Amino acid sequence: MSLVEVKEVTKQFASGSEVITPLKEVSLNIQRGDFVSLMGASGSGKSTLLNLIAGIDRVTSGQILVEGTDITKLSRGKLADWRAAHVGYIFQTHNLIPVLTAYENVEMPLLLLKMSASERRKRIGIALEAVGLSDRASHYPRQLSGGQEQRIGIARAIVASPTLVVADEPTGNLDEETTENILKLLGRVNTELGMTLLMVTHDIEAAEIAKRQIRLERGKLVEDQQKQNPVPAPHSTLSEVQTSSLTENV
Ligand SMILES: Nc1ncnc2c1ncn2[C@@H]1O[C@H](COP(=O)(O)OP(=O)(O)O)[C@@H](O)[C@H]1O
Ligand SMILES: [Mg+2]
Repeated sequence: MSLVEVKEVTKQFASGSEVITPLKEVSLNIQRGDFVSLMGASGSGKSTLLNLIAGIDRVTSGQILVEGTDITKLSRGKLADWRAAHVGYIFQTHNLIPVLTAYENVEMPLLLLKMSASERRKRIGIALEAVGLSDRASHYPRQLSGGQEQRIGIARAIVASPTLVVADEPTGNLDEETTENILKLLGRVNTELGMTLLMVTHDIEAAEIAKRQIRLERGKLVEDQQKQNPVPAPHSTLSEVQTSSLTENV
């Protein structure tokens, strides 16, 4: 069974008297352990597809199964619970909360789950270590560089050991060198933590880091290239993994 099964998904928006159809009967499977980059021109439907798979938005028609659960059938409340337990989201601009420290920002997703304070502390420690920022835990976002902020964003996305990590143009606002480091870090989140990633990018070089590249054109899937098989590392909880190697050269 695929981790994610997208079945003939169509999404429409009403825009005044017009109807926009950014996705037209898109079908797609994502395997556990894969790292998929989703490319396409601006307006081709990338973010729309990502948000549907992440349970942030709802389909107009079609189904999306994640580990066999049809998330299109879940009520609003159930979908929010599902998202909190299963999806880590990395934004283009890190979206950190400015009045919270790095540590508190990383803690946010765990507050939506039933988890003891000691388990939270342990996971936050490991997530910060994984992105190489243990020593910045008490810093506020404004005291961090752009690259560091995005690394905190990644720590926040992985801290709950989600089933799927999604990233929408995660390097869109970074310089070249920082971009390279962030991409390497995402590669390691995939190969070393065994997490499954779906990354939207319009940057071909960024897409190269992924094992599989798919492309949307005007709401249709037009290309699908598997460069490397998904090697599913055992999907471990963050508290079990050995992360020291993850931070080399980041
Ligand atoms: N909430 C919305 N309401 C109306 N139209 C939208 C909405 N979100 C996206 N669209 C439209 O859907 C199309 C695809 O958008 P999007 O998925 O954001 O493209 P991409 O991420 O590939 O640049 C665009 O024409 C966009 O204007
Ligand atoms: Mg977009």
